[in-house]
Amino acid sequence: MRVNGKLAIVTGAFGGIGKASAEALAREGATVIALDIKQEAPDFVVEGIEYRQFDVRSDEAWKALAQELTVNRRRLDVFVAAAGITAYESFHEVTDSIWDNVVEVNQTGLMRAFRALIPLMQAGGGGSIVTISSIFGLGAVAGISAYHASKGAVTLMSRNAAMTYAKDNIRVNSIHPGLIDTPMARARDGDGQSHTISLTPLGRIGLPEEVANGVLFLASDEASYITGVQLPIDGGYLGQ
Ligand SMILES: NC(=O)c1ccc[n+]([C@@H]2O[C@H](COP(=O)([O-])OP(=O)(O)OC[C@H]3O[C@@H](n4cnc5c(N)ncnc54)[C@H](O)[C@@H]3O)[C@@H](O)[C@H]2O)c1
Repeated sequence: MRVNGKLAIVTGAFGGIGKASAEALAREGATVIALDIKQEAPDFVVEGIEYRQFDVRSDEAWKALAQELTVNRRRLDVFVAAAGITAYESFHEVTDSIWDNVVEVNQTGLMRAFRALIPLMQAGGGGSIVTISSIFGLGAVAGISAYHASKGAVTLMSRNAAMTYAKDNIRVNSIHPGLIDTPMARARDGDGQSHTISLTPLGRIGLPEEVANGVLFLASDEASYITGVQLPIDGGYLGQ
């Protein structure tokens, strides 16, 4: 059991990567609070996951969750930030509402989570935070301006938090998935998918479980000397 007895919060837990991450953590002994804006819980195949409808944009919701854990004297060991949305417009096409929506979920939502949850980890003597950025939070392609902006922010917010809270024994690392077979990727047109696969050295789409394996490692004490890193799980896309 690689994360036995740990308490983990996972956002985006209805979706492909968040769900697989919640299950990987629970399978290895963690108690998981799984959050997503979707009302119904997904069919988790592992015990030990408590699902809650939750909007990562809501500061009140983050404060209430932190307050609940404090009152119940629960130590928070792991936070996995997988909630995210995408938009494909270039800068000359993007509207304020598309931009604001993407930034509010991917970037500001993460800030609100950090603001609420990091004090719990400080009080508990440490923890591990794993954020899900993207290959597009490290390297660029044409278009997807708001997504690039928000995922670039996730990358450097994670590094900033790693530097700021190392003294509190809080490790913060980001994962950079390539094209992964999830509802988000499936919503993209077939040409977009084939183009990314053609640029991927391993020549195939990735599986949510392959990202969850990285989440599990970084969340666990096996990664106890790793903080401030960016881990691509991308079939070699960024290695070129
Ligand atoms: N699938 C890919 O190819 C890929 C590649 C790189 C990065 N990512 C990133 O991985 C993360 C997970 O994406 P996925 O591929 O599993 O997509 P997904 O669409 O399956 O999952 C994302 C989840 O986030 C939830 N969500 C959206 N807005 C929310 C909000 N305001 N509050 C709470 N939950 C909210 C959605 O309901 C959904 O269940 C995202 O951050 C995404 O940007 C995905």
